[in-house]
Amino acid sequence: MTFSTAAAVAHPNIAFIKYWGNRDDEIRLPQNGSISMNLGDLTTRTMVTFDSSLPRDTFDLNGIRQSGAALQRVSQHLNLIRGIRGFSAPAHIFSESNFPTGAGLASSAAAFAALTVAAVRAAGIEMTEKDLSRLARRGSGSAARSIPAGFVEWFRGDTDTDSYAISIAPADHWDLVDCIVILDSNHKATGSTEGHRLAQTSPLQQARVKDCDHRLENCRDAIMHKDFDALARVIEIDSNLLHAVAMTSNPPVFYWLPATIEVMQAVVDWRLAGLPVAYTIDAGPNVHVICESGSISRVQEKLAALPGVQSLLSSKVGNGATLE
Ligand code: PMV
Repeated sequence: MTFSTAAAVAHPNIAFIKYWGNRDDEIRLPQNGSISMNLGDLTTRTMVTFDSSLPRDTFDLNGIRQSGAALQRVSQHLNLIRGIRGFSAPAHIFSESNFPTGAGLASSAAAFAALTVAAVRAAGIEMTEKDLSRLARRGSGSAARSIPAGFVEWFRGDTDTDSYAISIAPADHWDLVDCIVILDSNHKATGSTEGHRLAQTSPLQQARVKDCDHRLENCRDAIMHKDFDALARVIEIDSNLLHAVAMTSNPPVFYWLPATIEVMQAVVDWRLAGLPVAYTIDAGPNVHVICESGSISRVQEKLAALPGVQSLLSSKVGNGATLE
């Protein structure tokens, strides 16, 4: 390998049934399966160039040269790919996103999905979608779900080989929209890698995991039958369970701000009054409000009027990671 380049695009995803806690932190084997939808309007584009004449890996993210932990995590991921083909050429990685990174918007899912697809191609490796998903999982668990298209399920699996994600419905199956309520874009939350480690210290984690197959089934059925009310019920409970575990970990992690709870309460009130909306919250204070595309302007108008809302982003369901 002297010189070879490839580029890929990927989208972040929002989990309806969430991944929280690993059975094996090293290879990111999750304690439970999860279900998500890709966010097609939010995009990360990554170009990987292997070049033997480079002294070391370099990584530019949104025009800023990265060092320390960010560079190391990307280099470690490329080492897996270099290891498959048995070469050691350093790489230049150039990555750009059209949405804020590090604001609890699952930027690592899109980042590692795009990086995996671009680097595998640049390394000249042929890989199935299943194997791309397994490999992306090693960079960031939720990245496994940004490889396939549309509505996606990541099987927990028992080993590295059977923990991967598949598409359970294409992007055009159901015109859902994720309206992301940004309450704090600078929040330095406990990162998800640390959160997964802490999950085992909560006495509630076992109960959350034990009941997960049941929630996965309800969520899968709700998606298949486009049953918004059933989807709303299962995703809100699942999100609350993740946060209950985080709040009871040792040390405890509180991701919510007061405004987070105000948005959650408003969403539930609106639904009880007949507007089909539901909330789900990842490892940060921002709230993902899910609705059908027909209600988006009404939902956005109502959300914008709530206290503490800095900005709103929205996305339709998206495709999987693809080569450019
Ligand atoms: O992929 P990670 O390690 O960033 O973990 C993602 C964790 C959550 O976003 C909170 C849940 C999920 O399933 O995406």
